[in-house]
Amino acid sequence: MNKRSVYIETYGCQMNVNDSEVVAAILNDVGFAYTEDITQAHLILLNTCSIREHAENRVFQRLHEIKKLRSENPALLIGVIGCMAERLRDQLFDNDLLADIVAGPDSYRNLPELVTIAQNSKKAINTHLSETETYADISPYRVGNNRISSFVSIMRGCNNFCSYCIVPYTRGRERSRDAESIIQEIETLQQTGYKEVTLLGQNVNSYAFTQGKNTTNFAQLLEKIAQKFPHIRIRFTTSHPKDMGEDVVHVMARHANIGRWIHLPVQSGSTSVLSRMNRKYTREEYLQKIAKLREILPEVSITSDILCGFSNESEEEHADTLSLMREVGYDLAYMFKYSERPGTLASQKMPDNVPEEVKIRRLNEIITLQNSISKTQNAADIGKIFEVLVEGRSKKDENELKGRNSQNKTVIFPKGNAKVGDFVNVRITASTSATLIGELVE
Ligand code: 5AD
Ligand code: SF4
Repeated sequence: MNKRSVYIETYGCQMNVNDSEVVAAILNDVGFAYTEDITQAHLILLNTCSIREHAENRVFQRLHEIKKLRSENPALLIGVIGCMAERLRDQLFDNDLLADIVAGPDSYRNLPELVTIAQNSKKAINTHLSETETYADISPYRVGNNRISSFVSIMRGCNNFCSYCIVPYTRGRERSRDAESIIQEIETLQQTGYKEVTLLGQNVNSYAFTQGKNTTNFAQLLEKIAQKFPHIRIRFTTSHPKDMGEDVVHVMARHANIGRWIHLPVQSGSTSVLSRMNRKYTREEYLQKIAKLREILPEVSITSDILCGFSNESEEEHADTLSLMREVGYDLAYMFKYSERPGTLASQKMPDNVPEEVKIRRLNEIITLQNSISKTQNAADIGKIFEVLVEGRSKKDENELKGRNSQNKTVIFPKGNAKVGDFVNVRITASTSATLIGELVE
């Protein structure tokens, strides 16, 4: 029973990173030590993502590679967990892929049992989606060597059904985690020396935890946490433009320990595309939110996700995205071309009819524009002094440290007397489109 070990490889979003830590904790309880050496593992789990076809293809490739390890160790168990498990289910037992265990995002408590079933040479599967599971009582096993910044998931699932998106189908209905258990988890992190937490949810603005007659909404939760942990920097993601209320921005303004950063994915700058995407806001409403945000919090950095080449996207609609990007001036954006996902509303009702070469050209235009905007935005920080949380050594130069400022921008500077885990003041002296470069201010 003892002396077994599990190796977990994580694909996709930050929620998956956190889920892998929950899985490591559940398996630890039944005697599986966590290993970072795949060749030592008795159990290999791939925690997977279905958001784009490309993400799934990477996992298929990886499963084929892992097959070689099994030929060296016939007792090795291989599991696919997460969104692909939920979407593809028993297709993953295909002879060619050789998964032994398939577990969806809401069935991780069942993993010890699934392992036992698989050990008896039976295919073990659980893809049941729950309306209540939040893993609230499980203290995640923190993986990796960053002991400074951690994710804390506050809700699971999504009810938005953006027409292009698979997440509501793979992660199920939205549910909020017990506020007390969130605070408990942050308390534990603080005691272990963590200095930053990022509250995670597919749409944190619709957080609502009800106990008896009281409901805690997201603004209230954020305020409670900010008050209780004045020495922890608090971040949150993702915000949905349709639900992002002014109350949250006012809470941020009241508490300096809440990061001056909002990830507010726009997806498209065209109202007609947004309507086909079922995003439930217009270009104008989005821009009004941005204006209000900047009015209340002038120092805020704003980041986004942008999706091009969606069904029927015309050149004019694409141009609307480029002009919105210029108007907002995002500090950073994650940019994608549309990938049709079977089972979504779009896959049933809206043709994936923008030719691949047009998608690529539009994506390149978006990337080129964003690079130049990021460069300008970062150059505007030259001369400013930021409080930076030191996270580690810079990759390029061991005499330099890297960290992030309140705006979530990466800052590199000569180390001086600063140590990992310190909050230090850094004056920015130079910048690129991706980083700020500076010097310590004593
Ligand atoms: N194709 C491409 N990108 C997608 N995203 C979500 N679904 C798809 C899809 N089918 C992007 C959105 C979302 C981010 C997490 O991934 O921009 O905000
Ligand atoms: Fe997908 Fe939309 Fe939910 Fe985000 S809000 S996970 S894009 S359905």
